[in-house]
Amino acid sequence: MAMRQTVFTGTLLVVILVATSLNSVLGQADFGYGCREADLPNEIRRDCHPEPNASEGACRERGCVWCDKTETWPGFPACFFRDAIYEPPGLTCDTGYHPALDRVDCTTGDEPIDEMSCRYRNCTWCPSLPNANIPWCFQSAALDNTGYQVVGQPVNTTNGIVINLSKTFNNGRRFWEGEASSLIFEAEFQSDYRLRVKITDGSPRFEVPLEIQPASGGNANPLYEFQFTPSPFSFRVVRRSTGTVLFNSAAGKLSFADQFLSMTWNLPSENVYGIGENEQRKFKHDFSERMEWPMWAADQPPYHTTALYGTQPHYTVIERDGNVHAVAIVNSNSQEWHIIPGPMIKYITIGGIFDMYFFLGPTPDDSVAQYTEAVGRSQMPPYWGLGFQLCKYGYDNLTEMQAAVDRTEAAGIPHDVQYGDIDIMHMELDFTVSEDRFGGLPAYVQELKAKGIKFVTILDPFISIIEGPDYRPFTLGEQMDVWVKKADGTPVTGRVWPRDQTAPVFFPDYSKPSCQEWWRILIVEFQQLLAFDGLWIDMNEPANFDSGDSNEGCAANRWNYPPFKPGFSTQNLAEKTICPDHVDNVSIHYNTHSLYGWFESKPTLVGVREATGKRGLVLSRSTFLGSGKWTTHWLGDNWSRWSNLHYSIIGVMQFNLWGIPYVGPDICGFIGYSNADLCQRWMELGAFYPFSRNHNGKGNIDQDPAVWGPAVAASSKTALEVRYTLLPYLYTLFYKHATGGSAVFRPLWYNYVSDSMTYPVDEQFMWGSGILISPVLREGATSVVTYFPDNRHFDYYTGNEITTRMGTLTLAAPKEVINVHLAGGNIIPTQEHARNTEAARNNPFGLTVVLNDAGSASGSLFYDDGEGIDTHLNGQYFYVEYSMMSGSLTSTVVMDGYPDMATKTLGTIRLLGFGPVTSVTVNGVTTSFTQKPNGEVNLTGLTLAANSEFTIVFS
Ligand code: NOJ
Repeated sequence: MAMRQTVFTGTLLVVILVATSLNSVLGQADFGYGCREADLPNEIRRDCHPEPNASEGACRERGCVWCDKTETWPGFPACFFRDAIYEPPGLTCDTGYHPALDRVDCTTGDEPIDEMSCRYRNCTWCPSLPNANIPWCFQSAALDNTGYQVVGQPVNTTNGIVINLSKTFNNGRRFWEGEASSLIFEAEFQSDYRLRVKITDGSPRFEVPLEIQPASGGNANPLYEFQFTPSPFSFRVVRRSTGTVLFNSAAGKLSFADQFLSMTWNLPSENVYGIGENEQRKFKHDFSERMEWPMWAADQPPYHTTALYGTQPHYTVIERDGNVHAVAIVNSNSQEWHIIPGPMIKYITIGGIFDMYFFLGPTPDDSVAQYTEAVGRSQMPPYWGLGFQLCKYGYDNLTEMQAAVDRTEAAGIPHDVQYGDIDIMHMELDFTVSEDRFGGLPAYVQELKAKGIKFVTILDPFISIIEGPDYRPFTLGEQMDVWVKKADGTPVTGRVWPRDQTAPVFFPDYSKPSCQEWWRILIVEFQQLLAFDGLWIDMNEPANFDSGDSNEGCAANRWNYPPFKPGFSTQNLAEKTICPDHVDNVSIHYNTHSLYGWFESKPTLVGVREATGKRGLVLSRSTFLGSGKWTTHWLGDNWSRWSNLHYSIIGVMQFNLWGIPYVGPDICGFIGYSNADLCQRWMELGAFYPFSRNHNGKGNIDQDPAVWGPAVAASSKTALEVRYTLLPYLYTLFYKHATGGSAVFRPLWYNYVSDSMTYPVDEQFMWGSGILISPVLREGATSVVTYFPDNRHFDYYTGNEITTRMGTLTLAAPKEVINVHLAGGNIIPTQEHARNTEAARNNPFGLTVVLNDAGSASGSLFYDDGEGIDTHLNGQYFYVEYSMMSGSLTSTVVMDGYPDMATKTLGTIRLLGFGPVTSVTVNGVTTSFTQKPNGEVNLTGLTLAANSEFTIVFS
């Protein structure tokens, strides 16, 4: 703590002066009911009457101080809590009276506390001699209490246990305003693998309207044991099979106040992943020193420990013996997670309740499947969405966009989706197309479609009011009353696009049914103007170039300026967004801010599907738990720097653990100029992101893959052609996610959890269990140190087997090569590549069979029309399972609901790891084959119907 406190050492003198003036006030008999408190610094007044029309009578009725100096001090409350100035006799800043040992730290440990926030906590502020370990903001030990205790008998319910807790506050004094004296603790044994823990104070408090789906199976044989200690109360979650304590809340104090909830727990190991969204620079958390990860949806580029666009309060732990569990906390308030040596986590949120879910795994796949079962699994992306996508903010006109598309085509680089950013709009107004700069765009979109290229365009959430009655989104919004409101019921104003500094915007309240309907109508109508195939919803934190309401800022009240503000880069909660006390249909923005993009996602998907009649695609910047049901995500405004290649892998792996697998960063970087070397390596890596899009910021030099000359274009083409060849496998992985919850883009430990050497690996990753990708992430490097787990691996390009196992190997990685290896035990469906998926989908399929040590392999293929809605749920798909054992490769058709499959062929088989072959029969007919010196066997020119069952025997 003291490290950050000492920052304030220089203000010691001032602080003592303020304290002296406080003492002189407190020395007067009547405090609280006269107006002498006006002498107090206004900034320590906590608003006791934040709603409009405060009056002296109403104020006094609340037991608060009325001292109206608003004329002199606009913005500071006339009615304020007495506690802010309350100092019990003897607890003034007298260091002699407060020996260090008597001081119980009122802070979270190392937050930058100052006098104001200390007093907000009803604590004593007393800057100490410069001794690092003596708290400056404290309560006397004599006034501390022993935490919550169990009262009465815990009640066993049909599915769990309910425990009443209470806490006594000596002298009635609380650490935090509104600290609860009684709590209801509920443990609900939702299934053998899912435990919910809910702690409330019995009052109506905000709860995230996230629908948690029931768990499958019963709870007769839980994987966990729930235990608690009555005094002070703490609880533990123990894995029954091993006795491992997964979670022990005895590590710290349980706090439950109106605007400060905190819990600290011990973890069973340091192998902890997740907690976001932030730019984490290591996938595995580092417990060697304390780190804080804040969450509060923020429109700002990634700066490591600052809050980012989404809120994903979820982590996964690999226990010491390789079992895996995950924990999610369903809370959307501004919060912060501390990683503490121990290993421990301290969790602080400033609203809502504790609503925690434990997913017991025990495998990595189980933990993701169980979590996504609860919050909802991601939609299948359209098949074209797995193709390469091109975008730039700052195509000044259609000609520039066309030039990028043409360059890509001329270089033969696969290209499936072209994007329109806000440049295409008339004055950056949603649902418009600029006549003068992009007048030909609607026709061009048709032209692109004829070539098999789809078009996705952007929408921002806010609506400009300057265009008045001629701007339908605004007038219809007015009619349908769709806006987020201020406390007085008038719409909140902000300033974003258009850039015209005087132009205000209103913020749609996507939590409101009429707003969802309004948005749907506009999306459907927009399709008539521009035949988009998907929508990109940006700036939905929501962003604002002003802080708070453009006209009024934010009122001085406890929502806008909470007693404790979790750390993030901004100064206050309204920084670059709207005020926490603004009101939506569900609650105040204080509670729902980080749900803004989440609320916008579903109606956008509904609109896209109705507008296009197809599956469509929605790409959202802000996400929350379960966003994947409606949207996918890109990692935001990253930097055109080498380090960002590495961070991007971490980000994509995290989102895969969070059940949103279709994710990628802006390839070649968004902020700053990219360069040929960086972009070449990034395009190679980018060919392996689930969501593969090159996007660039305004004002930067072009960075589309063909603009850098033949070398970058060629290696981009080659890497993307590998991707396109592997798309049936990737698509099948998405099907597996949609139906079973598995991650698509995986850390190595996901597949090799018994190998602890894989735990820190975050510069390599896998597609499913079958493909290991080891990109170059450093400038100038032409080799890459690659870890090979305990399996057979074959070079994707040469078919050569790697002999290293459970060890690293330095592989050559010339500029034009990204290392890709195939892992034993997998059968990988492929399809010949083409310039886009529309064309590739007509090409013959293939199978790459990669044998393991036992000489066997298995795999599957999901295929459908690639764009129908919910085909995987209504049987309109083809699904086949492949298996190879003892030289015999067979296929078993499980679902034959996609008639076109019969018109496609299976043309090639590639077999790796079998050994010398002398004959091959396909359905009993001897067939020619080739075998390379390294043992790779190839069958080509087959004409098996892709939906047929077959047996191929190698001997
Ligand atoms: C911010 C987004 O993050 C970026 O991708 C987009 O290009 C700009 N807004 C302009 O729309």
